[in-house]
Amino acid sequence: MKSSQHKIILEPIDRSNFLKLFNMQLRPEQTTFVTPPRWTLARCYVRLFGDNFEHLPHLIRAGDAVVGYATTACDPNSHDNYWIDDIMIAAEHQGKGYGRAAMVEVLKMIAARYPRCEAVQLTCFRTNLNAAALYISLGFRPTGGVDEEFGEPNYKLSGTALAEFRK
Ligand SMILES: CC(C)(COP(=O)(O)OP(=O)(O)OC[C@H]1O[C@@H](n2cnc3c(N)ncnc32)[C@H](O)[C@@H]1OP(=O)(O)O)[C@@H](O)C(=O)NCCC(=O)NCCS
Repeated sequence: MKSSQHKIILEPIDRSNFLKLFNMQLRPEQTTFVTPPRWTLARCYVRLFGDNFEHLPHLIRAGDAVVGYATTACDPNSHDNYWIDDIMIAAEHQGKGYGRAAMVEVLKMIAARYPRCEAVQLTCFRTNLNAAALYISLGFRPTGGVDEEFGEPNYKLSGTALAEFRK
């Protein structure tokens, strides 16, 4: 069954559920594509992007199963500093549509939570062709810029493509 037929819930990570993060595994060739689970929480704790950013880690839940996680870092007073810092679907759950469904829920969450948001951004490694195809299909476009941390290309979703997630 493809994910569009599953209901995806974004569950805020707190002391009651954070251990679910730690058993998630990627395929060996994917391990450099995303911040490992422990690091994603550490980045939130230290507010890596700055005190003006709200860092929100979420488990991605499909029914009873926790299938992945997504972390956002957003400056609610800005127009375009709204970042999907990490998204990962565990290896055994990939290819079933959960990643697409989770991206849609993350984008809807950002659009609803941050009324000033005019653009959502992310970084995708050049060799991560599957993720790039997903982002392009959702309306993200390369900005031509690169991420300060990794030197990898940035992508942005804005305008009518972003408005789709406010409906
Ligand atoms: C990228 C990722 C989140 C996608 O999640 P997923 O659940 O496997 O993806 P889905 O099954 O929802 O597929 C969504 C789209 O991704 C792309 N995709 C996913 N797997 C693919 C594959 N094996 N080959 C080609 N494209 C693929 C396609 O564009 C697909 O489009 P479709 O919905 O029309 O089929 C997941 O593969 C992952 O966690 N990868 C490792 C970590 C990572 O790279 N995170 C992103 C960092 S930028």
